[in-house]
Amino acid sequence: MSDNQYRLPKTVVPSRYDLVLEPDFETFAFEGVVDVTLIIGEAVDEIVLNADELSFGSAWLEPAGGDQIEVTGVRLDPETERAHLSLARTATPGDATLHVEFTGTVNDRLRGFYRSTYTDDIGEHIIATTQMQPTDARRAFPCWDEPEFKAVFGLSLVVPEELKAFANGAKASSEPAGNGKRRVSFADTMPMSTYLIAFCVGRLEATEPVIMGGVPVRVVHVPGKGNLTSFALEVAEHSLRFFTDYYGIPYPEKKLDLAALPDFAAGAMENPGFITFREAALLVDPATATQVERLRIADTIAHEIAHMWFGDLVTMRWWNGTWLNEAFATFMSLLAVDAWKPEWKVFESFALDRSEAFEVDALSSTRSIEYEVIAPGDVEDMFDVLTYEKGGSTLWMLEQYLGREPFRDGIRRYLADHLYGNTETADLWDALAEVTGEPVGRVMDAWIWQGGHPLVNVARQGDQAALSQTRFGHAGADDGTRWPTPLRVRVGERTDALLVEPEGALVEAATGELVVANAGGSSFVRVHYEGELFEAIKDASAGLAPLERYVLLDDAWAAVVAGALGAVEFCELAARFGVEDESPVWKTLLGGLGWCDRLLDGEPREGFRSFVRDLAGPRLEAAGWEPREGESDLDRELRGTLVRAMGLLGRDAATIDRAVVVERASRAGEKIDGPLAAAALPVAATAGGEEEWEAFVAMYRDGRTPQQKRRYVQALASFPQPELMQRTLARTLDGYIRSQDLPLLVEGCLTSRDHGAAAWEFVKENWDALRSKLTPHLLVYLVEGVRVFSTQAQRDDVLAFFEAHPLERAQKMLVHALERQSVAVALREREADELAAAFAPGGRLGA
Ligand code: BES
Ligand code: ZN
Repeated sequence: MSDNQYRLPKTVVPSRYDLVLEPDFETFAFEGVVDVTLIIGEAVDEIVLNADELSFGSAWLEPAGGDQIEVTGVRLDPETERAHLSLARTATPGDATLHVEFTGTVNDRLRGFYRSTYTDDIGEHIIATTQMQPTDARRAFPCWDEPEFKAVFGLSLVVPEELKAFANGAKASSEPAGNGKRRVSFADTMPMSTYLIAFCVGRLEATEPVIMGGVPVRVVHVPGKGNLTSFALEVAEHSLRFFTDYYGIPYPEKKLDLAALPDFAAGAMENPGFITFREAALLVDPATATQVERLRIADTIAHEIAHMWFGDLVTMRWWNGTWLNEAFATFMSLLAVDAWKPEWKVFESFALDRSEAFEVDALSSTRSIEYEVIAPGDVEDMFDVLTYEKGGSTLWMLEQYLGREPFRDGIRRYLADHLYGNTETADLWDALAEVTGEPVGRVMDAWIWQGGHPLVNVARQGDQAALSQTRFGHAGADDGTRWPTPLRVRVGERTDALLVEPEGALVEAATGELVVANAGGSSFVRVHYEGELFEAIKDASAGLAPLERYVLLDDAWAAVVAGALGAVEFCELAARFGVEDESPVWKTLLGGLGWCDRLLDGEPREGFRSFVRDLAGPRLEAAGWEPREGESDLDRELRGTLVRAMGLLGRDAATIDRAVVVERASRAGEKIDGPLAAAALPVAATAGGEEEWEAFVAMYRDGRTPQQKRRYVQALASFPQPELMQRTLARTLDGYIRSQDLPLLVEGCLTSRDHGAAAWEFVKENWDALRSKLTPHLLVYLVEGVRVFSTQAQRDDVLAFFEAHPLERAQKMLVHALERQSVAVALREREADELAAAFAPGGRLGA
């Protein structure tokens, strides 16, 4: 037995739950009864299970073939969230059933059994729904709430007759239950972990089931949104087919509902048979959405469907395995969407997400991808970019190293070996090693158990290129950590796949041959080219693959942040990219330039703006403002990126005027191409006043699609007037803006160059009110924007505040944000003067 006080004893193990829940839609109380089928392995005097925020009524144990044993007392331990049920006499080994009656609250905190609301012409409607991961099932019913205790769940809900009820299993029966209620029973689930339970009751609609490979699939939504469901069904159909084939195992449940909920803490949740989403992550009008919005939805659906096998059918033994679950689904969704829409070039978009992980992983406070989890609270820190994006990137790197098919075969082996079971990370490496014969465990252990990532240095040595590695970071960050690093290196026309060991590697490279380390861009490394090699790759950049161009720019900006390259040199490199065609490459370039803008004031800032206009203006002109016949989704997306660049960073008057017109037309209901409409919005806000502000606020409520609502709430941070910022912030507290959307808005306010300081004052003053509305995650997302504050005074203030008001959970994510802030302060100190000189009239980059 584990000596971890948070782990339940295994003396008593559940195999089946029969659960009945009856929520009251007036009082928000719920009543429940659960009968748990148990195997008692050793004689026990008490039964220990998880429960929190529940009250216990009668309870007893019924041993198979024996007399009932009364539960004489229940001791609740809020710290470990456990209940100890004392038995009137010792229960001996064998089968038994535990009967427990209990009550709880359908809360408004987006966790456990919670309520979501929406308003329509009829009035306000309540939806009672659930989010159990990681450890909130214990707030809905007493249970063995650890992933290892898999069981079958037979659920019944007693609900008002006029409401619909959904759960993991299909509806099996519905009977009158008196008092205007029905008792709806659902088909048994597969044997699964408690964190995957889901159910939902409310005034909802479902689309007609579409049979996909034998599986009926529906989208569940609030009435009136059926017109926004077809894209999701298309993605689901493709994903089900893709994963059934990839894994070589049929979909493990009997039906699949995708439910769009008006209030949802995460983006989506992989409950088998009943995947839940926030509306913006499922419902969309693909014709008016941006590429980023469509991709996010496709990616989210594919991600959750990938979990149906990897995570749901085969599950981590304990929460330390969360990273693998999430990293794998992140990577698999890339494969699935890439197979569906190769023209979307999803790995290029993913590079932008990966860059976020690089940034955090370059900090000295970074963590290893996997770590020991003691209290379930420790797992909250795992849901971050290191898990999803670094973890997903690491798997991509491994897949590229092993080869697409061998990797897939290893996954098939792993799943087939552990059906309905629980695993450790090493089980996956073992399966991959068995199938491929490669040292998977040795390579992956270095990546999983060490924080940070390599900087690959490339130097010419006669007719060879010498590759060596250090740990990437600011000067002095190299603590000797090294990684067996899968890397592709292209020399001239030839590409070698290497495993760069800690001691480095040599590749043949005749004088004059171009050397591209990280060819294809799939390795999680930064690259530094020495001397002429750097000059050569810059000169050859137009001929590089898009991801290689991305990596060149992204690595260059990372070098600026680390203090190894000047911001002015970065701008000079950026100046070569005016002809760039790919939106992600523009975005990483603009990310670096956005920082430069933050560091400049007065005349140099004007000089910088004109630099941006010279860079992006001709490309926008070439793209034009009107979508053209035969344009791809990505071409249209690029237009939006350029409009933002010209309007927000370049402050181009003509662009701003035009954006105002486009935004008005779009708001009036005119069909405007998605990327253009979305880009016009923040640009128009910068020129807007009170009237526009009112209209934007209203659009958050009345927008035609979740995407439109989201764009409008996000753009509120772009109004320049301080008094409008105060009004925006005030709306975060009056219930107008849903809790789930607060982080998006407040993060935008905090990261606004003009309003960051005011937004921070507001957050401090209203800390308790904001905190009470949010889950630990949403709270940390809300404050993460402080990472951009780049003066020492701001930093001291932020540190003092969090010293006095520590977060209860997800502290690691806050620590990362705070260290990013110190990185920002150092960046300003190092670069601001030189940049200002360069962009001043007559300077190196000035007019
Ligand atoms: N299992 C997670 C949802 C989750 C996250 C539950 C954090 C509890 C805490 C789900 O599979 C997921 O990863 N959702 C992502 C979306 C995905 C496309 C990256 C999310 O919610 O952001
Ligand atoms: Zn996931």
